[in-house]
Amino acid sequence: MAVSSSYGAYLRLGTLLSAQDPPDFASLEPGERPSSKTRDLQHHDEMLFIVVHQVFELWFKLILHELSLARDLLGRHGSEIDEHVPEEDVPRIHAAVARVNETLRIATEGFRVIETMNPANFLQFRDLLIPSSGFQSVQFRELEILAGLPEQLRMDFEGAPYESKLNETERQILQDRRDAMTLHAALFDWLSRTPIERVFPDFAESFLAAFETYVDEQIVHQHGNPNLVDSQRQAAEVRFKDQLEDARRYLLGGDDPTNRAHQAFLFIASYGNEPLLRWPSALVDGLVEFEQCFRIFRFRHARMVERMIGTRTGSGGSPGVVYLDRTTAKYRIFGDLLEARNFLLAGDRVPPIPDDRLLHFRFED
Ligand code: HEM
Repeated sequence: MAVSSSYGAYLRLGTLLSAQDPPDFASLEPGERPSSKTRDLQHHDEMLFIVVHQVFELWFKLILHELSLARDLLGRHGSEIDEHVPEEDVPRIHAAVARVNETLRIATEGFRVIETMNPANFLQFRDLLIPSSGFQSVQFRELEILAGLPEQLRMDFEGAPYESKLNETERQILQDRRDAMTLHAALFDWLSRTPIERVFPDFAESFLAAFETYVDEQIVHQHGNPNLVDSQRQAAEVRFKDQLEDARRYLLGGDDPTNRAHQAFLFIASYGNEPLLRWPSALVDGLVEFEQCFRIFRFRHARMVERMIGTRTGSGGSPGVVYLDRTTAKYRIFGDLLEARNFLLAGDRVPPIPDDRLLHFRFED
């Protein structure tokens, strides 16, 4: 006879709610599974510490699920790139990214719950955690890799790679992630195929000419700024001219696919109100928001850590909050999307599209 479902059985609450007793590492024999012997909580607040971390890991699981969908739809299942992403998939990809952003936001708020713990109470059981640390969260690393954090940005850990604290199975999981396509790469490939030339054949050159006019005007404004001394006016001029050079390099100075992707970012950001560009524009904005949410997550974690343990060495052995602040400043995933914001122009300054009917909906028999 078939067993009928129930709330607890469907959610496997038996398994989930029996996983809060900490393993008794001290009494484990070599090779014994950590779940086979557990100990009592060392302090009342240790329950908070465990539950909060488990909740975060569940949020990470959901984020990985959604980012994988976004990557698969954009990049066609991680290996072969399909030449065409169906238009109806773009809102689905956007919805997955929007869900990730909300999840990151709610997870970031979760640090408030752990901050209800008195730091001195934390010290009652903190030493039992050594050498484990959030540094060993495999899902967090998977998330970074799947989204597309460039490996060359990573800081090593006193000369050893960040994954040196993981076991072989965990390292293999990360290797598999590195071997698969990232969301950033899938986005880049998709954008580099945007047929801008069909709508606006010399978009990059026209845009740069408009940007140069803007830069010239800004220089005149700053030269007339009564609040600046001459050296500050000169410095402002140099900065504007550098930005013009940056715009040239961004749009025309790389290899062909990179230039095309950058042109597409700027094209979509500049003409995002055109009906056919609304969803691509919402998706690109969603990824800019992801970059922002992820950075705020890192920053918020670091502030919680500072409040809890000051600047002392982390349980994983890193320089603690100093290390965490460095990751916040350095780690960028969708930095290219943000860079396009340096060059945006007001709507009436953007060169008009030669035939914008091509970007409107058409209903045909
Ligand atoms: C009292 C609470 C916490 C303290 C004092 C703390 C402290 C630290 C410290 C010092 C590090 C740097 C590595 C090390 O040396 O250990 C770290 C890394 C990390 N922690 Fe926490 N943490 C706390 C709670 C959390 C929570 C609730 C999460 C959520 C999952 C978390 C996730 C992480 C992650 C993912 C890293 C790696 C960050 C990276 O390498 O970029 N931590 N934590």
